[in-house]
Amino acid sequence: MAEEPHMRTPRVVLGVCGGIAAYKAVEVCRRLVDEGVHVIPVLTDDALRFVGELTFNALASEPVQRSLWDEDTPIPHTRLGQSADLIVVAPATAHTIARYAAGLSDDLLMATLLATRAPVILCPAMHTEMWEQASVQENLATLQRRGVEIVPPESGHLAGGDSGVGRLADPAVIVARALAALAGIVSSDLAGVRVVVSAGGTREPLDPVRFITNRSSGKQGHALAAAAARRGADVTLVTASPIRLAPDLGASVHRIDVETAADMERALGEACRGADVVIMAAAVADFRPKVSAESKLSKEDGLPELVLEPTPDILAGLVAQRSKGQVLVGFAAETHDVINRARRKLDRKGVDLLVVNDVSAPGAGFDHDTNAVAILHAGGGTTMVPLTSKDAVANAVLDSVIAHQKENRSPT
Ligand code: PMT
Repeated sequence: MAEEPHMRTPRVVLGVCGGIAAYKAVEVCRRLVDEGVHVIPVLTDDALRFVGELTFNALASEPVQRSLWDEDTPIPHTRLGQSADLIVVAPATAHTIARYAAGLSDDLLMATLLATRAPVILCPAMHTEMWEQASVQENLATLQRRGVEIVPPESGHLAGGDSGVGRLADPAVIVARALAALAGIVSSDLAGVRVVVSAGGTREPLDPVRFITNRSSGKQGHALAAAAARRGADVTLVTASPIRLAPDLGASVHRIDVETAADMERALGEACRGADVVIMAAAVADFRPKVSAESKLSKEDGLPELVLEPTPDILAGLVAQRSKGQVLVGFAAETHDVINRARRKLDRKGVDLLVVNDVSAPGAGFDHDTNAVAILHAGGGTTMVPLTSKDAVANAVLDSVIAHQKENRSPT
């Protein structure tokens, strides 16, 4: 991994479980260190039956960690989990896969996996019969749905002398996948870029205690703000959501809390002046009560008449006031005929990219930790992002923004 200005050394926890393929984890460790990655090996007790601690101590960036009780500090798993940019488990045994799917924290590796928000890559290795077991496949599907990346085993000779699927993926493949995951986390490809993100569902008051809103949690917008900040951008987050950002983003994200569509329109109008990239992930209310009562509505006064009026189309206003070179990204929440409706919305809205999510699909859209989107490019072309974490979706959107900027940069 080439050292760029502003780039920090990425930290990877390398989990090694008890399988014959544990010897290949040594190669994964060495290659990651060669790529400039800070590697912390965490070995299970069974892994230590297959491969020596000394080997990893000689090659890794830190000595092997093996127990919750080795260090002076009583909580090594939170230190490891919170400071990791990525966790790679190679080989991942059927036992560890089952423990992870069930959320069991019965050793240091499992506790670290549960105490992290970093992306996780699992590289299973086992005999073909074990690999094909419905329980193993279902556990892997569960983990994948939660955003865990799986590097599947290869087919070939196995330890018992037989052949079949189950051999650990080639260390070069595992390292390539790890570096790809780290590129979205620690690269500084947005250094100096001013990014504005909107998030959450606006609240339109009926009276001082009641409001109309929608199911948006703000998770997707906040993931975008966090990902942009981690990639070096100066970020302004205009949010109608109460969720908190990670403490390490305090300095690089300027947060503006808003409630209504009108508040959001004002805040964005200001924030977007001079911005390089604007991403509208907020679910802005399309209608609001025409009148918001000054005092609490009461049954005693009879059934109130609810008259709605349209809210301002904020995105349309931003398109109208956009400065030269500013990249505008809209979102679309659809439930049917998703791509066709999104393509029409892209043309109508006049944005550069439109990110569409089928909010009726399992695990996608409102309030989930995962999402599945299609990123439609105004110049044609679509990038599909299958179900994954909202962080991974955020990085895919930012990758498309950068690709768009490169394509449209006028030659000097
Ligand atoms: O917040 P989460 O729980 O994580 O869920 C994420 C999400 C589903 C809210 C997000 O991924 C998403 O799809 N956001 C856009 C939802 C939406 O309002 O879609 P829309 O098709 O109604 O609007 C199209 C675009 O116009 C959006 O960029 C929206 O921000 C913008 N808009 C809409 C109405 C309005 N009055 N002004 C606007 O600017």
